Amino acid sequence: MIEKKLAAEQAIEYIEDGMIIGLGTGSTVSLMMNVLSQRIKAGLNITAVSSSAATTKLAGILGIKISKINAVDCLDLTIDGADEVDENLNGIKGGGGALLYEKILASMSKKNIWIVDSTKLVKTLGKFPLPVEVVQFGCNHLFNEFESRGYKPVFRKKGETRFITDDNNYIIDLSMEKIENPEELEISLKHYPGVIETGLFCGVADIVLAGVEKSVKVINKKKRAQTF
Ligand code: 5RP
Repeated sequence: MIEKKLAAEQAIEYIEDGMIIGLGTGSTVSLMMNVLSQRIKAGLNITAVSSSAATTKLAGILGIKISKINAVDCLDLTIDGADEVDENLNGIKGGGGALLYEKILASMSKKNIWIVDSTKLVKTLGKFPLPVEVVQFGCNHLFNEFESRGYKPVFRKKGETRFITDDNNYIIDLSMEKIENPEELEISLKHYPGVIETGLFCGVADIVLAGVEKSVKVINKKKRAQTF
């Protein structure tokens, strides 16, 4: 948790007065929001938009006002977590089930920063199950398709029932083990009717702040060869 906290605290330094900020989802983002709420109480003026019901709920508790996504044209900066990040700063996200709205915020954002601990840095994506958000209608057919391709699909569950996303869809997690070409896989998955979004975030992150023991590694998209 200390590595996540260090990365979360560093991300705050990128926030400037007057910015429109996208708030991701997850435990690392929650740590960042704790610090952000203190800065807001101390006078920082930002507009925030949220990527999930969970983040909106936490924002309410922390006194961070959330604006509606359609009330803003674009975002200056989105700060989010990730489940895996590879050497090219491609990532897997959606462990918390918020991948669809997270990807929409990212696409609206001039800059995307991911905050992670050192366990998230990988050479090749795929050990973490890849979340795919699917519409409920006809989802068993999609499941069978994924199974026949050897993707080892599993419907995500919450207790005894299927997990339902904020957009009222299901998530099918795929166990790929190694994703050699994430861009290609993303395109191929999105060709299936019923697939809303995948947890593959290719070319999205501009900066990854990774807590590594007691310090933070700043990994910029262009300088990645030197930092990994
Ligand atoms: C939620 C996400 C999260 O950002 C990701 O799962 C990382 O979570 P955490 O910070 O709790 O490790 O993609 O959909």
